[in-house]
Formats: sequence, structure tokens, C-alpha cells
Amino acid sequence: MSSSYAVLTTIIILLVLFLYLSWVFVSIKVVDKEQKGETTERRDFLFTASYALGAVGVGVVVWPLIDQMNPDASVKALATTEVDISKIGLGKTITVLWRGKPVFIRRRTQEEISKAKNVQLEELKDPQKDEDRVKKPEWLIMTGVCTHLGCVPLGDKGDFGGWFCPCHGSHYDTSGRIRKGPAPTNLEIPKYEFVDNNTIKIG
Ligand code: FES
Repeated sequence: MSSSYAVLTTIIILLVLFLYLSWVFVSIKVVDKEQKGETTERRDFLFTASYALGAVGVGVVVWPLIDQMNPDASVKALATTEVDISKIGLGKTITVLWRGKPVFIRRRTQEEISKAKNVQLEELKDPQKDEDRVKKPEWLIMTGVCTHLGCVPLGDKGDFGGWFCPCHGSHYDTSGRIRKGPAPTNLEIPKYEFVDNNTIKIG
């Protein structure tokens, strides 16, 4: 049973329980009342019961429609991807596909890290500290799509020792920040996390 149907079943059980308890409560009360009062209370209860049953009916009809909008397991699997980074050597980059886009995973050298950290923010077109772009200094994970018009930049190229986009000449530094050329912003950092020391999950 999917979690959506489990929720729906719980709602129905709670509503039935509510109806039953309402019935018990009203029945106890009417025992001590005059005939007129009893009629009114029973009528109120019938209204409540009708609304509740109506709500259940609407829920039963609408829920499958809502549920089918939820991504199924295969779609969710595509939304995230786990990558083994244990084989990436120092100073090397691998490219993985995530949601149809290339993602660069770079294991940076100490020199690259120092270069990225020593840049003054005033020098940057899209000011961002290197620390704000990485979770661990050694690992730079970013979308490999030039922010100008979407070409894929080349690694270990350009005037800043990072990436170079040959389409119109954008240069990115060792943190993937735009330093020269028409690209307006830094290479994007996707959502990711370290599952353990050797695995990252993107998405
Ligand atoms: S698409 Fe990269 S510089 Fe134009």
C-alpha cells in the first residue's frame, strides 16, 4: 500500500470513529431531554454526519487524482544520483549526468584550494566565497553548464586555472566562479550531500 493510501485509510478510520463517538455522545444527551430537544439534537447530528460522509466521499474521489501527481519511485530515483568518488585522483574531475545536465566533481589540489580562497571578493563579477561553494574544500561539485548560453566548459583551461567555455570565451576559476568573458554568474552548485567519505548524493 502506498503512503498516500495509508493516509487516506487513516483519515477514513478517524472519521468513522468521530461519527461513532458523536452518535454515542448525542444518544447519551438526548436520554435526559424533552422530545423537542431530542429532535433538534438528532437533526444536528444528521447534518454533521452528512457533511462528514460527504467529505469522505470527496476525499475518495479526489485522492487518487492527487496521488497520481506524486512522483513514483522511478522518478524519485532519477531526481537524485549517488556517485562513488573514491576513485577520483587528486587534481582530477569526473563528469556525471544528473537530470540531463553534466555535473563536474573535482578533487581539488591544495594549490587550487589556496588560489580559490585567496581571491578578493571585489575582484569577482558574482561575488561568492569559496567556502560558500563547497562542503569540503577538496571537493568542488558544480553543474557543468556555462551560465552564458549553456555550453559545457572545458576543465583545466582558461586564464584562471579552472574552466573555460570556448563558445564565447568565459573563464572560470578553481572555484567555478566567473572571472572573465560574457557569462553573468558563477557555475551553479547543485544540491548535494556526502553520504559517507566515498559517496555523494546529488539532488
Ligand atoms: S555559452 Fe559559454 S561563453 Fe557563451
